[in-house]
Amino acid sequence: MSQSITKSSTDVTAAASERRPSAALEFGQAWDYAPAPEAPDHVRIDPRYGLFIGGRWVTPRSGRWFQTISPSTEQVLSEVADASAQDVDDAVRAAREAYDKYWSKMKGSERAKYIFRIARALQEKARELAIVESMDGGKPIKESRDVDIPLAAAHFFYHAGWADKLDYAFHGRRWRPLGVAGQIIPWNFPLLMAAWKIAPALACGNTVVLKPAETTPLTALLLAKIIEEAELPPGVVNIVTGAGETGAALANHPDVDKVAFTGSTDVGKKIQRALAGTTKRLTLELGGKAANIVFEDAPLDQAVEGIVAGIYFNQGHVCCAGSRLLVEESAHDLLVRKLKDRMMTLRLGDPLDKNTDVGAINSKMQLGKIRELVEAGEKEGAERFSAPTKIPEKGFWFPPTFFTGASQSCRIAREEIFGPVLTIMTFRTPDEAIEKANNTMYGLSAGVWTDKGAKIFHMATKLKAGVIWGNTYNKFDPSSPFGGFKESGFGREGGRQGLSAYVEVE
Ligand code: NAI
Ligand code: MG
Repeated sequence: MSQSITKSSTDVTAAASERRPSAALEFGQAWDYAPAPEAPDHVRIDPRYGLFIGGRWVTPRSGRWFQTISPSTEQVLSEVADASAQDVDDAVRAAREAYDKYWSKMKGSERAKYIFRIARALQEKARELAIVESMDGGKPIKESRDVDIPLAAAHFFYHAGWADKLDYAFHGRRWRPLGVAGQIIPWNFPLLMAAWKIAPALACGNTVVLKPAETTPLTALLLAKIIEEAELPPGVVNIVTGAGETGAALANHPDVDKVAFTGSTDVGKKIQRALAGTTKRLTLELGGKAANIVFEDAPLDQAVEGIVAGIYFNQGHVCCAGSRLLVEESAHDLLVRKLKDRMMTLRLGDPLDKNTDVGAINSKMQLGKIRELVEAGEKEGAERFSAPTKIPEKGFWFPPTFFTGASQSCRIAREEIFGPVLTIMTFRTPDEAIEKANNTMYGLSAGVWTDKGAKIFHMATKLKAGVIWGNTYNKFDPSSPFGGFKESGFGREGGRQGLSAYVEVE
């Protein structure tokens, strides 16, 4: 990667003469990088995408289409089909037929070959997929290129490995696939969530109807093309696009055996209510309000990197985002100062630029929600700091922000903001940290930062969260199960535990 780096001399002298660099540096101006955008010209986005049903691209019976835009430019990228209940019915039928005819009868080692093929194709097309992901959803190319796409491929590789070894996965008990899985995913990790859902379902012998989110359908459609090229039997994977109604039609379809949902707690609850009393299996991965807990003895500079990665990279569009920072009172002022300094160096802007740290907010609606909660924080008397960013003229943006002096009852301390907004609170003892961290309706993830390994283990046993990171944050691996407690949902994805969501064990 070639880029010119110029450090402005005024910044150097000003910074050197100040004990607190934040006073001297302007946002993103510590180092001026020349723009280094990833060129999208070799990427082909069709002007229009139909539905991928039964191995063919079909026009929706609904006759309706909708546009997907780039949230960083508001430019229309493509038009996709708006699937009706009838279209969903076609997809479920195709999946059922493929289940009965091919997939449930195929040997695990054969299924594995197809899944490996998908994994390899994802690697081959990684660059294109990363660009489309950043264009359609607004996340920085650094994230889509280095996190989303490699992890999506890793999930297919990992589960391809399981496909012929499932007899060893459930402690010698007999297992069988469930049938047709209806899978509904959100907009924050579009391709990665598709991989999390599709890979284990296929490995275990199920067929799939997947519905991507309405603001980010493109990489799931490119995945459909990969699946087509990998020559999976028709109907094993079907992709239907649309919004909430399409999702509801899929979840409520009587011939779907299993529903897997990732998204908001509200919609998760709706699905759970609708499925009550049916024999359908359900897994829900919902919201979070994770606490990142920093002790005085922690490596603070490292913790700052973890905090920034946990809430500002990816615009806080992460269900396990470290959106509450609990810091030991004696370290509060120093940590806040270090965090402020680091925030001054974050670059917000073009998601396709390789130097961008903070991209665009996924949609106008999400931006409205972030603004509303931030206003509520100000009204409730918390003190706000926002990095003084230059906001691009077009698109949806929100500057990296934190609040200090918030009480636990504030909305910004309780509700999922799903934006680059951190709420900082303090504690004096480990017990107080645990109590505050657990004082939430969610329980998806948490982070602990300390010099003492024993303290991490102690905290991990007391924290009610599905994933707990020690001296790091937002690290994923397909072999590591992920999922929540309380209103963050139930069921696990990844690892051996994740397989059991797609089989009946006798
Ligand atoms: P959402 O829950 O409405 O959307 C997630 C998926 O569910 C999308 O594919 C959507 O089309 C589908 N869906 C919507 N209504 C449905 C229904 N009645 N039945 C079946 N499927 C349905 O999330 P939304 O509105 O995009 O975001 C709202 C908030 O949800 C965010 O501000 C954030 O707090 C949270 N969220 C959490 C996510 C997570 O990963 N846990 C991901 C996305 C949003
Ligand atoms: Mg879009």
